[in-house]
Amino acid sequence: MNYIDLLKENKQEHILKFLDKIDDKDKERLIKQIEQIDFKQLKELYEISKEDKNKAIIIEHIPFVDKYKLSEERYNKLQSIGEEVIKSGKYAVVTLAGGQGTRLGHNGPKGTFLVNIKPKPKYLFEIIAENLKKVNEKYNIVLPWYIMTSTENNEKTEEFFEEHNFFGYPKNNICFFSQDDLPLLDGDGKLVIDENYNIKVASNGNGSVYKAMKKNGVLDEMKKRNIEWVFMGAVDNILLNMCDPILLGLTIDEKNEVGSKSVVKANPFEKVGVFCKKDNKPAVIEYSELPEEMAKETDEEGELLFGESHISCNLYSINAIEVIADKKLPYHSAHKKINYLDENGNLIVATEPNIFKYEAFIFDGFNYFDNLSILRGRREEDFAPIKNKAGVDSPETAIELYNNYWKL
Ligand code: UD1
Repeated sequence: MNYIDLLKENKQEHILKFLDKIDDKDKERLIKQIEQIDFKQLKELYEISKEDKNKAIIIEHIPFVDKYKLSEERYNKLQSIGEEVIKSGKYAVVTLAGGQGTRLGHNGPKGTFLVNIKPKPKYLFEIIAENLKKVNEKYNIVLPWYIMTSTENNEKTEEFFEEHNFFGYPKNNICFFSQDDLPLLDGDGKLVIDENYNIKVASNGNGSVYKAMKKNGVLDEMKKRNIEWVFMGAVDNILLNMCDPILLGLTIDEKNEVGSKSVVKANPFEKVGVFCKKDNKPAVIEYSELPEEMAKETDEEGELLFGESHISCNLYSINAIEVIADKKLPYHSAHKKINYLDENGNLIVATEPNIFKYEAFIFDGFNYFDNLSILRGRREEDFAPIKNKAGVDSPETAIELYNNYWKL
């Protein structure tokens, strides 16, 4: 079907009007973009933005294991199970770096943000590289390091690594792969045009990592390298422990395919997802979706019932990734304030949320398993996220945690 019919059939005629107003070069590019859109998926996305977010699901507490309440014997056993896998070269690391540092006010891939830690400032990517190098030294291995970028930041990320000589990490053990984009839609399900005369798109959420690994041949490559366990972590936590043998040992010992590290929620309303059972399957409920009464609920000992924070510190067997990659993870919609061009080319400046963005969440992959190993760590050892410019989870709070941990 040609682009005119496509747009008409899918009630996107406003784009046709816009096409009449731009020059041939821009028109050609925009048409190519239109031809690549999956309009069937677009309809499904639009339905999501209209969905009732409070539909009935059963949410229950999920058990976890506290790393610091393990007996010495159990700790040592888990450690040796985990270390055996790591030492035998069957462990790989994926960094989720498809996000931009928008909330942080950073212009560029989030991993290129410079953090003013002691003794000298380092980039987020550099901190990760150095932590991985420490693991390599400890176990006398070279961990394969996979970095998920997005269409928007892939080129800039690769250039950044080249410029910085891969921070001394063995270059042939670093592999970049990119996640996909999804169009944004307005409240009536219409596509929107950005200031460069393109259909406005955004990366499709960190939950796309599973499919992106399959599509880009990462899974196949891992299998060729005999990788059995894969860690996936965020780019923005400067205390992220990417290779905790206890988490790995626990997941293997509990005969699970997926494991995750948690820390106790700082307060009922901290902006983190929390572990739970959703309709009897392991899950994380995002802060934006956890009802206020549940956020405050406590058990007999006064601990929050939903107090285990998801800190994007996740571990999978290679088989688990294959299983999830073949599923259709749900998309979550977020209503955002976004400027765009109307059909006459006038800039519409948003004063309130006007546009829906769609994202798959990494933890929605947990639902496909009956159980999940959750290891409670300690905030001061595991979690120093950089999310906001100032206040909570800002460079300032993360730097303090980092300097304290490394006694700098
Ligand atoms: C995320 C978690 C939340 C957790 C919190 C802890 C999700 C969906 N939510 O929330 O449960 O409590 O971190 O810090 O994971 N990313 C991509 N591609 C994307 C979007 C994000 O690779 O399309 C990456 C980011 O670069 C980052 C990580 O995913 O490394 C987390 O993304 P972010 O959007 O910052 O999630 P939060 O809302 O902070």
